Amino acid sequence: METKNIGLRGIEVADTRISNIDGEKGKLIYRGYDILELTKRSSFEETAYLLLHDALPTKEQLLEFKSKLSDARWITKRMQINMGNWRKDADPMDMLQAFVAALAGYYDEEFATKEASYDRAINLIAKVPTIIASWQRVRDGLDIVDPDPNLDHAANFLYMMSGEKPDDEIEKIFDTCLILHAEHTFNASTFVARQVASTRAHMYSATSAAIGALSGELHGGANTEVMKMLLEIGTIDNVVPWIKEKMSKGERIMGMGHAVYKTYDPRAQVLKELSRKLAAKTGDPWYAITEKVETTTIEEMKKQKGKDIYPNVDLYSASLYYMLKIPMDLNTPIFAISRVVGWAAHIIEEKFAEAAPKPALYRPKAVYVGKYCGPEGCEYKSL
Ligand code: ACO
Repeated sequence: METKNIGLRGIEVADTRISNIDGEKGKLIYRGYDILELTKRSSFEETAYLLLHDALPTKEQLLEFKSKLSDARWITKRMQINMGNWRKDADPMDMLQAFVAALAGYYDEEFATKEASYDRAINLIAKVPTIIASWQRVRDGLDIVDPDPNLDHAANFLYMMSGEKPDDEIEKIFDTCLILHAEHTFNASTFVARQVASTRAHMYSATSAAIGALSGELHGGANTEVMKMLLEIGTIDNVVPWIKEKMSKGERIMGMGHAVYKTYDPRAQVLKELSRKLAAKTGDPWYAITEKVETTTIEEMKKQKGKDIYPNVDLYSASLYYMLKIPMDLNTPIFAISRVVGWAAHIIEEKFAEAAPKPALYRPKAVYVGKYCGPEGCEYKSL
């Protein structure tokens, strides 16, 4: 017997009302709304509310939600001091994972009810950007910048990280990036979050586990790897030989391919356009180089394997963040700033779903292919 469901591809494990991907048509909906519409008409805060509460907020609800986020955006002095004790070259994802787990110890809170979980969600959505921005300041030997209650979520992060308030255009670009990354059904990190929550562990624990899953280069870590690739390629003339060489060795091109989309990832479409516009404004070469990476990978894939391949969400976010002057190794933590919303919605659904069938503790089965040992020695046998 051999394992049939490697990587659990296509296996249905739970019901969800949070989002849906149509991988054939390249469509993604959050709680019934097309993400392309949300990027045009909504804000990150409105989208976060929608994902958590299954309905777009009224004006009053949105104001209250924003005000709760604003109240929760600070982190304690003790946390800031603790950050100063970390090695300055520590990976920001490791730091984020540790501090999110530590939130459970810094704040004395009730965990058990659904209502308490919404408060936890707000605390996490508010504090993840502050933790990342504070770490950026600490490792650069700069003073931490406190959140500004007059700024929205996207602008606040950029402000706390750089000390400068972004203009409206940059704020809108970053806000759109946050909307696009907020949720994506049972991706690797969300599944981890749900799995941990299925044991009845609390939200900080499930979220820190999800951050660990996001950090890997086949998942959220790909956006940092894309930027490293672009820098290594360096010039547009170097794209074709570079990609051909890597693909002829069977290496993967980061930011290309997806486990579910069999066509263009709708998030990549929006990010591509934002990156094109920003490059036209700044004169940066990174959009043009990224586009050449896309077309060359598509051509090489067709030639080598007769298969189609498309960009995923990480391809154009890398150059976009670079042009926004965000340090390259913060690309994946920024993914977490947004995806923490999806994780929280899934953790709440996993723990408190009212509709049948109710979720159960995840416990898949493994196929043992190891040895059997006795007095005569060990042998491998297939059962
Ligand atoms: N570059 C080159 N070849 C690729 C790539 C790629 N990026 N992606 C898939 N392939 C090839 C594989 O080598 C494989 O070839 P084979 O059939 O000859 O062995 C074939 O396409 C299918 O590969 P799978 O891994 O089975 O495809 P899957 O759809 O499961 O993989 C994945 C999805 C893991 C994302 C893959 O495309 C990949 O590794 N991409 C690069 C990493 C990346 O960008 N990850 C971010 C994904 S989006 C997100 O998580 C936020």
